[in-house]
Amino acid sequence: MKEALLHMLTENEGQFVSGQQISDKLNCSRTAIWKHISELRNSGYSIEAVQKRGYRLLTSPDLVTPEEVSLYTGEGSFGKKITFKPSVKSTQEIAHQLAREGAAEGTIVLADEQTGGRGRLGRAWQSPSGTGIWMSLIMRPNIPLQKAPQLTLLIAVAVSKAIEKVTGIEAAIKWPNDLLINGKKVSGILTELQAEADSIHSVIVGIGMNVNQERKHFSEEIIDIATSLAIEGNQPYKRAAIIGEVLSEIEKLYHSYLEDGFKVIKLLWEARAFSLGKRITARSISGSITGYAQGITDEGVLLLEDDNGVIHSIYSADIEF
Ligand code: BTN
Repeated sequence: MKEALLHMLTENEGQFVSGQQISDKLNCSRTAIWKHISELRNSGYSIEAVQKRGYRLLTSPDLVTPEEVSLYTGEGSFGKKITFKPSVKSTQEIAHQLAREGAAEGTIVLADEQTGGRGRLGRAWQSPSGTGIWMSLIMRPNIPLQKAPQLTLLIAVAVSKAIEKVTGIEAAIKWPNDLLINGKKVSGILTELQAEADSIHSVIVGIGMNVNQERKHFSEEIIDIATSLAIEGNQPYKRAAIIGEVLSEIEKLYHSYLEDGFKVIKLLWEARAFSLGKRITARSISGSITGYAQGITDEGVLLLEDDNGVIHSIYSADIEF
């Protein structure tokens, strides 16, 4: 009901919607309308109420609540089911649990803040309140296990496209799936699987994006390597609008991938790749290799040619320039 009311007010943003129109459309009493208007105001929506004219939405806050995000999720099925927590250890943990309980593909978990956000290679992911997108998406692709890395690359392309659509800023992809603006990391992706033998039960895609942080919000440790959309674009952005765009891009590419395979995704990934042709060092627990990044295979493996002309297949590593 609150969500439907917000939709009505947003569709008519800046104009009055009468109490009568609302109660006719949503089939509810004036008292119920008033209760939900008060709740929306308490969450930060500025709504004017004028006798005989009705209600008018003036401004809305930067929230990642289901009612706000649903304003931007459009026709697709990704993001239709949303679990939201103001503060949580990690959205990945909740999404894993939901996936085990049978949650549908496209279900997302959002948090305003994570107290134990997880990054790749066992690292922590700083996820302060009110500034970024901390989201986990449940996918259930019917593909063999060894193709799962392709999905990670697909997500990186989708996130890069969404950033460009909303902000006009190009975000390059550093293998496998870091998104960089002006050489600094703005978003990271963590793909975790629930699988058995060769079959995938679900893929839990964790997306972290720095949206409205200012430089002072980053710790010493990451200040030189991290950035946010607001820093790069010189303005704040609505997180819910970006979430809507990310989900829509993922869903589009996913359908294309399921129908036509990895070829198109690979081309899109390579067109946005930051590391290709560059001299890089791939560091992993088994050591480090320096050479030129030649490309990726159809499995999403990075090919690195060392100074002796030997080509190495890199499955998992940290890339340094
Ligand atoms: C990385 O670049 O290392 C990946 C970072 C992934 C962070 C996201 S935020 C939402 C989800 N929940 C987590 O704990 N991690 C992922």
